Amino acid sequence: MKTIVVFASGNGSNFAAMANAFQPSHNIRIALLVCDQPGAPVLQLADKYHVPTLVVDYRNFKNKAAAEAHIVAHIPPCNLVVLAGFMRIIGPTLLNAYPNRIINLHPALLPSFPGRTGIADAYNYGVKVTGVTVHYVDAGIDSGQIIAQAPVPVLPDMTLNDLETTIHETEHVLLPQTVAMLLATLDA
Ligand code: GAR
Repeated sequence: MKTIVVFASGNGSNFAAMANAFQPSHNIRIALLVCDQPGAPVLQLADKYHVPTLVVDYRNFKNKAAAEAHIVAHIPPCNLVVLAGFMRIIGPTLLNAYPNRIINLHPALLPSFPGRTGIADAYNYGVKVTGVTVHYVDAGIDSGQIIAQAPVPVLPDMTLNDLETTIHETEHVLLPQTVAMLLATLDA
């Protein structure tokens, strides 16, 4: 059995995609959801899928290092940390605790359109192809080594809303696939 810990800040549709993909028979278990936003919809999804949660309100800590030390102290043993819509830059405390074991989902084809608004930035730029990236997390912003990408064409009549829907659908396939692929390459 391989275990992952998921970090999310908002709606949690990618958390749900993994919870659906990784049924108990799949040999992958989500051991914990870490959420930095009290009241975020992803917390209700975690309850629905019986995944324990750790809510960490960074405002209650003196700095990022203290919040991350609290997280590290509460994470159970796990094979991989998956950032799925976690809207914070990861600091050295977490990076050093999980070297090469933290991956992130990004809604554009990196290195194009990093940051918090990748879908709209690509759409407004006028690209004809954008997509989804899963990459290792390093100290930069969406700059770590790329693991997997999937393209999404921007069709002439697409609205930004249409593109967001297609990007999310693509993420819901690529992220569970990539996590399963990475876990399969790890020793027990
Ligand atoms: C996803 O589109 C993910 O790629 C994006 O946040 C969304 C979370 O959706 N992440 C970033 O933009 C990180 N820079 P979800 O909460 O429904 O999974």
